[in-house]
Amino acid sequence: MSNNDTQIIDAAVPDAPAHQPEPQKIYLRDYEAPKYTVESVALDIRLFEEDATVEGRLQISRDAAGDVLLHAEDMEIEALYIDDTRVDDTAYTHSEGRLMLHDAPATFALRTEVRICPQTNTMLEGLYKAGTGDETMFVTQCEPEGFRRITPYPDRPDVLSTFTTRLEADKRYPTLLANGNLIEAGEVADAPERHYAIWHDPTHKPSYLFACVVANLDVLSDHYTTSDGRKVLLEVYAKAADIDKCHVGMQALKDAMAWDEDNYGCIYDLDRYMIVAVSQFNMGAMENKGLNIFNTACVLSSPETTTDARSFNVKAVIAHEYFHNWTGNRITCRDWFQLCLKEGFTVFRDQSFSADQQSAAVQRIDDVATLRAYQFNEDAGPLAHPVRPDSFVEINNFYTTTVYEKGAEIVRMLANMLGKEKFRQGTDEYFRRYDGQAVTVEDFLSALSVADERVLSFIDWYRQPGTPVVSGHQNYDAETQTLEITLTQKTRHVAGFDAPKALPIPVATAVFDKESGQIVAEEMLLLDKETQTYRFDNITGAPVVSLLRDFSAPVQLNFDYQDADLAFLLTHETNGFNRWQVTQILVNRILLQNHEPAIYLEALAKTLPNLAKDDAMLAARLLDIPSAQELASAISTDYDPDAVKAKRDGLYQQVAVHLADMWQPLYESLPITEYDDSAEARGVRALRNVVLDMALTAGVDNAADWAVQQYESAACMTERSGALKALVNHQVAGYETQLKNFYERFKADDLVIDLWFSAQAASEQVRVADIEALIAHTDFDWNTPNRVRSVISAFTTQPAVLWTPEGLALYTQAVAKLDDSNPVIASRLVQVLARWYTLVPSKREVAHRYLQALKEKVQSKHVRESLDSVLGA
Ligand code: ARG
Ligand code: ZN
Repeated sequence: MSNNDTQIIDAAVPDAPAHQPEPQKIYLRDYEAPKYTVESVALDIRLFEEDATVEGRLQISRDAAGDVLLHAEDMEIEALYIDDTRVDDTAYTHSEGRLMLHDAPATFALRTEVRICPQTNTMLEGLYKAGTGDETMFVTQCEPEGFRRITPYPDRPDVLSTFTTRLEADKRYPTLLANGNLIEAGEVADAPERHYAIWHDPTHKPSYLFACVVANLDVLSDHYTTSDGRKVLLEVYAKAADIDKCHVGMQALKDAMAWDEDNYGCIYDLDRYMIVAVSQFNMGAMENKGLNIFNTACVLSSPETTTDARSFNVKAVIAHEYFHNWTGNRITCRDWFQLCLKEGFTVFRDQSFSADQQSAAVQRIDDVATLRAYQFNEDAGPLAHPVRPDSFVEINNFYTTTVYEKGAEIVRMLANMLGKEKFRQGTDEYFRRYDGQAVTVEDFLSALSVADERVLSFIDWYRQPGTPVVSGHQNYDAETQTLEITLTQKTRHVAGFDAPKALPIPVATAVFDKESGQIVAEEMLLLDKETQTYRFDNITGAPVVSLLRDFSAPVQLNFDYQDADLAFLLTHETNGFNRWQVTQILVNRILLQNHEPAIYLEALAKTLPNLAKDDAMLAARLLDIPSAQELASAISTDYDPDAVKAKRDGLYQQVAVHLADMWQPLYESLPITEYDDSAEARGVRALRNVVLDMALTAGVDNAADWAVQQYESAACMTERSGALKALVNHQVAGYETQLKNFYERFKADDLVIDLWFSAQAASEQVRVADIEALIAHTDFDWNTPNRVRSVISAFTTQPAVLWTPEGLALYTQAVAKLDDSNPVIASRLVQVLARWYTLVPSKREVAHRYLQALKEKVQSKHVRESLDSVLGA
């Protein structure tokens, strides 16, 4: 659907909504086990031009007769049968998404006939239509609570059952897929234009793992033979024009299957594994049993159209969803408070998989950079919540970086503490004990604790919000040759939670000899009290310590390093992650504490030339300067986005100028060659793009020509979009020519056009008028989350523009517009504004006004919950 006629800027302000009931909060402490089981489920989904009918047959059994409560949202109930007898409408009540069967027998067969409308389902939850014209398809998203929008059901993750699914549709949609095995397909009697397929999934699963697809897709097929000899059919479905872009994903799937066997002993359990690429999808992808549904952005990849970063992400997401088959599907969550049980562990598993596909240091750098930029920010503001929340209004609001990424960091701490063998012993026990069950975080820790009891003390990491701050200092006594390191932890007290406790914090530490540059001691310190002092004996010369190596815990570290010690570590640290880490500490001191940049600039000048030859990817990362958003998260009052931008740009300029002589020889040493997907080649491409931008910033002669040349002779998208972004960011004379060329070249490819939109929306030079123009473009579409993100979310990378009255007007109107059509996406947009109260007073007041005005307009419980938290309700 195109939206050239809907310019939000001109949109009339809607009337204030009628008074809404306070959204209901749900508490972990109120959990009760289900009172009945669903032995089996059979669905018959018939899709028509305007709507769909769904017949559900549930075999329900329990101890005693009485009322039965099912979820049933956004559907019209046409008929209900109990044990094949139609019941009249006094036998049930259907209101506010709940279907109550009054006084049903203890054990009975329930048949429900309902009508739903996937064609108008813009929320993209439940069964919905994606794409238009020839590309129309129907797909499902059921996690967390979408299944209740398809058929009446006890839609909670602790109700497990086997599913049989019949799909019927017009033959225009030859692709009919559901979970499990295909057991029958054929023509529909008396309807020659229609056909059907029946699928059966023998595994017990919760309803959130249900999926089906009705579409016209091509398929890429392959096989994988498991270590226990099962030949698994692998299929990736995509529209015909995209099928060539499915090879990267297919290879990643096979790699992930082998990796999980090798590293966790987890073997695939069905005869078929399918992946379907969908252009309209709220999130990245979904691990439905045997039938993963993917955002096209997370599965399609080709050198000409996909950057290295995105392609690497494709492999990670494929692995992530595959790994869920054990951590999520076979062992699932008892309730949605336990979301981190599957997500934290699975993110840890996909990060480990990715670390094996490139330099482990770079993987860690990228994971930590993400954690710092988003999770630390979330933990520092009004949306802070424990990794396992204890209450929520709308569970969709808790698919957060805290649950996912901080959740993964907790598992990583446990894995590091236990070491490879014991961690494997613990995970083996987890799979052995809980296979086929819906369990809790306590169960997970209890299984791991068979390897080491200390595991149990990590439960507080799941319960307590806020990022611990670890500060410390060292004391070296040359006479006694002893070094003492004192560490103190402090976590802010988040309103509404208990006073914070000291957490167990593993601090990986190395001691270097200043003279020789060698490591003289190495230890994993465990800080589990508020303050502790650790003593190292026989330290014969002046030491430099390096702490939190590989980021051994998700904490903020404030150690009283001398800047010169940090420069020393940049040269001598053997841990690649900590080399990057010290550059980040130096940069933060320069930008936030007014340190002089000289030591940092010298250290970079000394380190870069050799590193560029040895590890181009790491060299590219060493030039990182935290984004404007990340810097903002470290500022708690009087945040002035313009001043931060000016400082950040100033330092970037200083680096570029200080190293100006380096750029030309370096750029020339990294010529474009034939495309290759090795880690080395990706490193060269990453560094080349950084150097190009630096050269343009420094005003190096001819740098503009390099950029145009790189754009034109690019062998792959990393090179072409790197050049395009540099041209746009520096507004190099004539950059409009390349922008136009890029659009014309790729206009048939939505994912590339997303890049085209975001290169402009995230530009250093962007103005609100530019965003308005992008929204007015014929290719902008409010109903395609990827497109919304490529403009509206891309724009939030420029806080100095976002936090202006015009920026806020545009952004909050976008939220108001999406509140009705897609509240999941609207709510995520709101969360980005969480730290409005840290702004300088004049801007704070404006932001507050826009947020208040937004509150008057919005209706969805998703957005209302987020907005209430953001406004401090
Ligand atoms: N379980 C999916 C994943 O992380 C995420 C699905 C979330 N979808 C949603 N609508 N909240 O792999
Ligand atoms: Zn996941």
